[in-house]
This record gives sequence, structure tokens and C-alpha cells, in this order.
Amino acid sequence: MKLKGKVAIVTGAGRNIGEAVSHTLAREGAAIAVVDLEKDRAESVAAAINKAGGKAKAFVTNVADEAQVQALIKGTVDAFGRLDIVVNNVAISDNKTIFEITKEEWDRVMSVTLSSPFLMGKYAAQQMVAQGGGGNILNVASTSGWRGRHRAIAYTSAKGGVINLTRSMAVQLAPHKIRVNSISPNKIGSPVGKADFDPTRPVVNLAGRSGVPEDMAKAVLFLVSDDSDFVWGENLFLDGGCMAMEIT
Ligand SMILES: NC(=O)c1ccc[n+]([C@@H]2O[C@H](COP(=O)([O-])OP(=O)(O)OC[C@H]3O[C@@H](n4cnc5c(N)ncnc54)[C@H](O)[C@@H]3O)[C@@H](O)[C@H]2O)c1
Repeated sequence: MKLKGKVAIVTGAGRNIGEAVSHTLAREGAAIAVVDLEKDRAESVAAAINKAGGKAKAFVTNVADEAQVQALIKGTVDAFGRLDIVVNNVAISDNKTIFEITKEEWDRVMSVTLSSPFLMGKYAAQQMVAQGGGGNILNVASTSGWRGRHRAIAYTSAKGGVINLTRSMAVQLAPHKIRVNSISPNKIGSPVGKADFDPTRPVVNLAGRSGVPEDMAKAVLFLVSDDSDFVWGENLFLDGGCMAMEIT
């Protein structure tokens, strides 16, 4: 087991990528704080992990809310005794153009997609520094943070922010032995904000197939475990090779 004795928070863990990441980290021995806005989703994932012999607790938290983030960190430490790993997986998308989106919609996407990893990073790092021994933070970005898109003006901007937030967090937290990295997925299972896999979703990549949440979970395990202990402030594309391709 690669994460025996570790304690991890996974946000947006109630379905899709966050759910698969939670199961994988739990199978490797980590106790998991399963965080979601939706109570039923968080509770069912935590129950499934516990049933499979792992250790998990559900937390209903809005990770864009500073006081709720502080309560989540405290609740995790109260439940499991410490905090070693945070996977900042929550995001929402706008799917709008610059002409369609309102200021309120822009602010909401920024708050959930960009401010939440900042808030989680700040308060998790405070806990990791206080307990000593370092830690690991993994931010889920997106290929949408690297390219312009016809829609999703706020989401693409927020994800671009997540990529450089990761680098600055990595620089500022390295003296405390807290390793920070990001992943940039592309077209994994169902679209962000949707529950169901869409087989008609067009996929253009080298792998010739859509990604599935387990593709993300394997890579997240690598990045939050000591297998990647020389990887600092890095972004890993999990996109089936689409960013490597010529655009025709
Ligand atoms: N699905 C993809 O194809 C894809 C592609 C690129 C990047 N990503 C990134 O991967 C991550 C996960 O994507 P997904 O498709 O699994 O998402 P999803 O929409 O299926 O699940 C996200 C979960 O987060 C929860 N959530 C939303 N707002 C929250 C909040 N404020 N506080 C707490 N929980 C909240 C939702 O209830 C939901 O259960 C996101 O960061 C997304 O941008 C996904």
C-alpha cells in the first residue's frame, strides 16, 4: 500500500473523477474525507469505501466558502487525526460566450473553480505546517486552461488560473515540504456538471478513446504518493495525447 496511515481530502468526490480518486486512494490505505455539496453523493461514496474495507467520512461542504473550508479542515483532523493529502477536484463550468455570461455567473465560476483550490490550499497548508512532516496538494486543472474555446469563457479563465496557482503554491509551500502539482484532463467520462457518460461526445486524441475516471485516479495516485517525490510544481496532461497533436 502506497498511502498507509495517510489522510486525504478529495473535493467533488461524490461522482465521476472525484469518486474514482477517492476509491483508489482508499485502496492504497489512505483515510478519505469525501467532500461534496450533495449530501447523498458524499454519503454513498463514503459508505462504499467503508463497505470495501477502507476508511472514509462524508463531509457536506461548499469549498468556495471560506468558513466551510476551515470547518472541513478541522473536521478532517478531528475525525482522522491529521491531514497529508488534498485533491482539489471541484469545478463548475459556464459554457457561455463573453457576450452571454453575466457578471454574477462569471463570479460564481471563478469562486468555485479558482478560489476554492486557493482556499483549500491555504487552510490545508496551515494544518500541514502546524503538524510538520510536509504534505501533498494536487489541483485538477483542464486542457481548457491551456487553450481558448468558443464557449466557457469563465471556466477556461479559471482553469488557466489553477495552472499558475499550482506553480506559485508549489514555490511558496516547498520550504514546508508540501509538494503541489496539477493534472490537466480532457474529455473524461461525462462532461463537467453532468452525471452520465455521453458516447456521442467527439474525441480527437492519440488514444482513440475517451478517458475514464480511473485513468485520472491512477495518475493522481502517482502524484500524491512518494513514487513522484521528485515532481514539484508540474502539470501532467491526462488527455490521451490531444495536446500533443497538430490541429487541422
Ligand atoms: N469530465 C471531464 O471531461 C473533465 C475534463 C477536464 C477537466 N475536468 C476537471 O475534473 C474535475 C472533476 O470533473 P467531473 O467531470 O468529475 O465533475 P462533476 O461535475 O461530475 O462532479 C463534480 C462534483 O463536485 C460537486 N461540487 C460542485 N460544486 C461544489 C462545491 N462548491 N463544493 C463542493 N462540491 C461541489 C458536485 O456536486 C459534483 O458531485 C473538475 O475540476 C473538472 O474541471 C473534467
